Amino acid sequence: MSVYTLPDLKYDYGELEPHLSAKILQLHHDKHHLAYVNGANDTLEKLAEARKTGSFAAINALEKSLAFHISGHKLHSVLWTNMSPKGGGLPTGDVKGLIENDFGGYEGFLKQFNAACVGVQGSGWGVLSWEPLAGRLIVQQVYDHQSEHAQGSVPLLVCDVWEHAYYLQYENRRAEWINAFWAVVNWDDVNHRLAEAKLGKFSA
Ligand SMILES: [Fe+2]
Repeated sequence: MSVYTLPDLKYDYGELEPHLSAKILQLHHDKHHLAYVNGANDTLEKLAEARKTGSFAAINALEKSLAFHISGHKLHSVLWTNMSPKGGGLPTGDVKGLIENDFGGYEGFLKQFNAACVGVQGSGWGVLSWEPLAGRLIVQQVYDHQSEHAQGSVPLLVCDVWEHAYYLQYENRRAEWINAFWAVVNWDDVNHRLAEAKLGKFSA
């Protein structure tokens, strides 16, 4: 039985153009994201098999695979709802106030988030997270899907800077993709995710 499933997009592949091409979005969602969903489910099955046979020779690889694929699934799920054909503009609602409190204003937040995205060496993400212990927002620079992640923090707003997210359209111009991301950002979704995170919930 599959534990994780691929969520549908709430818009058509071409609806984020010209900021994100239909071809990238289709490949990214239908192929890349699906691979993380399948990888998470496969790894859970392999761990169940290891418990059955009592053979844990591959435990290190399996635990790494579990963190990688579950995190890839969750971050992509956030990414799709973080974007909207009607997106763009400045932060709103509760998120707006928290960004002002926790980053000293939108300008400082934006500079930190963009720098985190541009600076990822290799594959990774820029992530705005709710950090429940302090009750504040933080920006994280996540490598692959799972590394340099503060335990227990909840991703609210994520920008994928793996090459598969932009290379077909923007080639090596990662900063142009990050600018395009802001043109479709869905602050209503970020506020919804913040409200859920404060209740200990997370939606795919
Ligand atoms: Fe991706």
